[in-house]
Amino acid sequence: MDNFTFLSPTEFIFGKNTENDCGRYVKKYGGSKVLVHYGSGSAVRSGLIDKVKASLDKEGIGYVLLGGVQPNPKDTKVYEGIELCRKENVDFILSVGGGSVIDSSKAIALGVPYDGDFWDFYGTGKPVEKALPIGVILTIAAAGSEGSGASVITKEEGKLKRDCGSDLLRSRFSILDPALTETLPAYQTACGATDIMAHVFERYFTNTKEVEITDRLCEAVLLTMVKETPRVIADPHNYEARANIMWAGMVAHNDIVGVGRSQDWNSHNIEHELSGLYDVAHGAGLAVIMPSWMEFVCTHNVMRMAQMAVRVFGCEMDFEDPERTARQGIHCFRKFLASIGMPINLQQLGAKEEDIPLLVSKLGLNGGRTGGYVNLSEEDITQIYRIAAKAEI
Ligand code: NZQ
Ligand code: ZN
Repeated sequence: MDNFTFLSPTEFIFGKNTENDCGRYVKKYGGSKVLVHYGSGSAVRSGLIDKVKASLDKEGIGYVLLGGVQPNPKDTKVYEGIELCRKENVDFILSVGGGSVIDSSKAIALGVPYDGDFWDFYGTGKPVEKALPIGVILTIAAAGSEGSGASVITKEEGKLKRDCGSDLLRSRFSILDPALTETLPAYQTACGATDIMAHVFERYFTNTKEVEITDRLCEAVLLTMVKETPRVIADPHNYEARANIMWAGMVAHNDIVGVGRSQDWNSHNIEHELSGLYDVAHGAGLAVIMPSWMEFVCTHNVMRMAQMAVRVFGCEMDFEDPERTARQGIHCFRKFLASIGMPINLQQLGAKEEDIPLLVSKLGLNGGRTGGYVNLSEEDITQIYRIAAKAEI
């Protein structure tokens, strides 16, 4: 196991009706003038924004509202938020929504105290030195942004999707009420489940030896998702299954399952070009890319892929031919994704095979290589997109 530090300072408040306490938590973490940031309407329609307003009013906390964050959040909304926060002297941002709203909130949080363009921090590794505090009320189990220090924003000009990471962007508190996710369409629930599994796989495929504890934690999250996702697809009001998925989504991405080991993240980077260019759901893009990436890297460490096949998908180990077991595991993963309604090839996703050279050219490769579990070249990535174009079950 590698040396590591682990900081997860967020206070998690989990369970039914916990959103009604948001005003108390904003006060606890020093907010006196709040930007309530939300998406394209689901939080208004469900009555959640009214509950948030009532809770802030009860605590005597002033607020301004800014809705309209779109999935794959855009830089234009971030600029609008920064301007509003400066004009209204906002000192706390409350994100009400999913990964897109939370990531937009994080971008505004770092942009308000910064003299230059907030975009300077995206895709560059420039360290964040200051950010407004944020709090979260989560409405979809997926991106894990409620527990992560990451933010992913798309620059409309050039459709560039880039990320930024800093512990300063971690939420002060995150309210997780699984009942809030019951209004999700099945497709969004499945996209979220896919993203959660992908966050674990990005960490599971490692070159670090002797990482039994994190291997086993990863497998626990994956097994939970394999069991609980079909239950919520069949019955969207299954609170207990939703509760397990919601906590799995946090555990999958605050890095507790990834510490002390090298990680990959190539599938995420390859996917970000798809959601950047076609504005498709991130989870759906991952459903197409991740198994294709697995096929491409399968022989890098056959025993690790076979271990996943045996422990997560219950495949029988073929000691004579472990690659057969490994490939069977990838097949099971793809079959599982299809069974919950996910696309499995570029065409089903709405992407075009002829755009592959454009997708590859946009991927900001560092010196032409990616790093990670397997260090990929442009030719390798082209091949992964080609596998994704032809994928079938
Ligand atoms: O905008 P509204 O009307 O709220 O609708 C949203 C949106 O259309 C809807 N929705 C959310 N909660 C709902 C609901 N509809 C009904 N009932 C509810 N309770 O769901 C749609 C998707 O929402 P979004 O926030 O986009 O989903 P998700 O949480 O999957 O976030 C995706 C974004 O997060 C980024 C992705 O790249 C993508 O841009 N990621 C962020 C990460 C991070 N910050 O750590 C890591 C991830 O790997 C990921 O890259
Ligand atoms: Zn993701």
